[in-house]
Amino acid sequence: MSELEGKVAVVTGGSRGIGRAIACELGAAGAAVAVVARSIEGAQATVDLLEGKGAAWTCDVTDAARCTELISEVQEELGPVDILVNNAGITRDNILVRLKDEDWETVLETNLRGAFNTTRAVARGMMKRRSGRIVNIASVVGLTGNRGQANYAASKAGLVGFSKSVAQELAARGVLVNVVAPGFIETDMTAQLPEEARDELFGRIPLGRFGAPEDVAGAVRFLAGPAATYITGQVLVVDGGMVM
Ligand code: NAI
Repeated sequence: MSELEGKVAVVTGGSRGIGRAIACELGAAGAAVAVVARSIEGAQATVDLLEGKGAAWTCDVTDAARCTELISEVQEELGPVDILVNNAGITRDNILVRLKDEDWETVLETNLRGAFNTTRAVARGMMKRRSGRIVNIASVVGLTGNRGQANYAASKAGLVGFSKSVAQELAARGVLVNVVAPGFIETDMTAQLPEEARDELFGRIPLGRFGAPEDVAGAVRFLAGPAATYITGQVLVVDGGMVM
């Protein structure tokens, strides 16, 4: 039997990139995966890769009421949620003096408030059942900061603080909350980076390659699975050794 057989997982931002790889990895481990994206076509495209073990949902994670509704709908269709992966995230990069209010707000609303919305929606059920795994996808820049990403770094550092607090609140009820902090992973998000910035970053990666979405997905599978029952409130960095 696969390690996540019988489990139900929710993955936000599952239409592409890291979210799609996480959905596929959890599906391959036996979980039924609720793939969540803003468009049903995007979510369905990932579900099509899962060989029958999942279903597609639309949800904008900034909409708190919709997040609550989403979790009840998933529960009705697939069963109680055992695993929540908060992966949806965006960047709106600029240097501080050029950051617009809207750049600050949308990034914080999506990356931090979004994770709060879905986590609050699953927490009660997980506590009642005395089991559950929550994995939040932050970033190494939430640990180190990064020029031109004050809004994004603040949202990801916030996500780390949020995760550690919730980990402490839910530990006694058997719910484990951890963070995966990726480094540079090749996805649509990083595709727009100028050549010089990519070269500079590449030189800082001891393992000598950029990450693939599957590298992050493997870490999520570990934290969601039976090998991680004594781990909570931790940040697992997946960055080829860039930040040590
Ligand atoms: P991506 O841009 O390819 O995918 C992001 C996903 O989030 C998309 O499916 C998008 O539709 C979804 N999304 C955005 N706003 C949403 C909202 N309001 N509601 C629902 N879904 C929404 O990005 P990528 O690279 O796959 O990133 C996934 C996560 O990993 C993000 O949280 C990102 O911050 C994080 N990350 C990525 C790194 C990288 O190098 N690519 C490095 C560190 C962290």
